[in-house]
Amino acid sequence: QNSTANKLIELHEQAAKLYHHILVNTQAGKQALNYLQQRGLSSDIISQFNIGFAPQQRLLSPFFKEKGIDYQRLRQSGLFIEDQEGKLRDRFFDRVMFPIKNPQGKIIAFSGRLLSTENTEMPKYLNSPETEIFNKRRVLFNFDVARKSARKEQKMILFEGFMDVIAAYRAGVTNGIASMGTSLTEEQVNMIERVTSQLDVCYDGDAAGQNAIRRALDLIATQSNRLQLGVIAMPAGVDPDEYLQQNGAPSFKQMLVDAAETPVAFTLHFLRQDLNLNNEADQLNYLNSALKVIAQVKTPLEQDVYLNQLVNEFQLDKESLQAQMQQIIRQTA
Ligand code: CTP
Ligand code: MN
Ligand code: MN
Ligand code: MN
Ligand code: MN
Repeated sequence: QNSTANKLIELHEQAAKLYHHILVNTQAGKQALNYLQQRGLSSDIISQFNIGFAPQQRLLSPFFKEKGIDYQRLRQSGLFIEDQEGKLRDRFFDRVMFPIKNPQGKIIAFSGRLLSTENTEMPKYLNSPETEIFNKRRVLFNFDVARKSARKEQKMILFEGFMDVIAAYRAGVTNGIASMGTSLTEEQVNMIERVTSQLDVCYDGDAAGQNAIRRALDLIATQSNRLQLGVIAMPAGVDPDEYLQQNGAPSFKQMLVDAAETPVAFTLHFLRQDLNLNNEADQLNYLNSALKVIAQVKTPLEQDVYLNQLVNEFQLDKESLQAQMQQIIRQTA
């Protein structure tokens, strides 16, 4: 294998060990450890995910320099920023450190979270920059673990953030993955469809999350004809991690099942959420956009199910709905 890559991975493995040591064994990590415990993370989970802490004072630069690691190698690693004189300083400080792994389980990057987002302009999460070993578009958090459990379950669950993946893991759901703070990419869809036939998308119960679900569904629909999709719609205002924290593991697991719906059902709910369906203009508007969605359904049976729902809910004539839908199909053909 490429030896530069191996050396960069080795640096990350050593950095993760050091960050973890600071978190669990030192005074400098106390506050961060409290923070994680308050968020419900046990020592086992902290070890499982190899979570650490980058302290205020610089840690990696003196450590690696003492070990005599080559300057160019350190520069390539992304673990440092270069000041004006070319001196390397730790990129991460005062952050809880989450290692990011490749599909083989080797550490290739970090994401660092501030303990508090109050009184600061700094981003809540800071990720490693792109390097020879880290391409954000090709990485999914927990993919190395989830692909093994997906072999048994034939399913993965895509979350928005890695604290949600960790929450699911705490509840015994180990097939969760998350993209690295960006929208889902083509590359990630390809990775997923190689290891599972079913993907449930479970993003945050806020407007950003719901819009991101729609974008993810569109991407997957154009990118893969193999993946069977589901949506797990969170209650308004909470993300999966907050849901677990508020309701406990049994309720969390039940929610993953009960709140699952088809992409079409999700999209129909989404389209009507800000409309007043007692208002005729809103109703027509909804029917039109609903028919556009239903027109794209590939299986006749599923299409019929959703058409019948409109017929029943709005007391409509099925033939006229079908005629309208055919017109939509002709217009978009
Ligand atoms: N994210 C990021 N930079 C930020 C905010 C978010 O990279 N400043 C990414 C992170 O990967 C995060 C994901 O977007 O996991 C989802 O964002 P958000 O819902 O705000 O974060 P949570 O996962 O809920 O994080 P926490 O519970 O720690 O607040
Ligand atoms: Mn969010
Ligand atoms: Mn969130
Ligand atoms: Mn959260
Ligand atoms: Mn419903």
